Amino acid sequence: MKNNGKRLSAWSHARHDIVEWDVPNWSVALDYWQEHTACDLPSIHALEIGSRRGGLSLWLALCGAHVLCTDIDGPSEIAAEKHFEYGVSRQVEYADLDALDIPYAEAFDVVLFKSVLGGIGRGNRKDRQCRAVAEMYRALKPGGELWFAENLVAHHARPQRGGLHPAQPGRRPGPGSTLAPWISDYFGKISSN
Ligand SMILES: C[S@@+](CC[C@H](N)C(=O)[O-])C[C@H]1O[C@@H](n2cnc3c(N)ncnc32)[C@H](O)[C@@H]1O
Repeated sequence: MKNNGKRLSAWSHARHDIVEWDVPNWSVALDYWQEHTACDLPSIHALEIGSRRGGLSLWLALCGAHVLCTDIDGPSEIAAEKHFEYGVSRQVEYADLDALDIPYAEAFDVVLFKSVLGGIGRGNRKDRQCRAVAEMYRALKPGGELWFAENLVAHHARPQRGGLHPAQPGRRPGPGSTLAPWISDYFGKISSN
């Protein structure tokens, strides 16, 4: 597949800056997305939701993509410092963005996040998780992909707009374990590992 050339292993020194915690488990998602996407990564415009310290944005920028790196109150200063350190600052923009109210429509080739929906749905608020996914769907261009990794699972979805999720062996089943059925209400194709 066309994006297989530069796998995360090529940036083994950067793994910690990209994945940050529980690196062996979450790293699986990166290779999975890269293998299964229909996108040509150097030509995409992506949106990272709930980025905090900019890890997934760093990874996508290293793959050649342009990324809007966001969090509910904006990513931390560490994100921009990290992107500067790796020489990808020109490919990354930053914004405050609430997943429940995304001010974009049909704007991105890829929307991605890691460990965000669980918190949004805390207190059994599946309605908030549904709303966040609906907002992400709206932000994607037709044919765009949603990539996500939550405790238990990671996803990529391709509109029609379509979905990827690699399982996280050894992690406790959380809200992620029940995500796929209702995410597929929005996304035509969901693949998982
Ligand atoms: C567990 S942290 C994960 C951070 C980062 N994605 C990572 O994997 O290291 C959850 C993140 O979701 C963000 N978040 C919580 N509610 C959000 C919302 N409504 N919209 C966007 N981000 C949100 C938090 O600010 C936090 O950065």
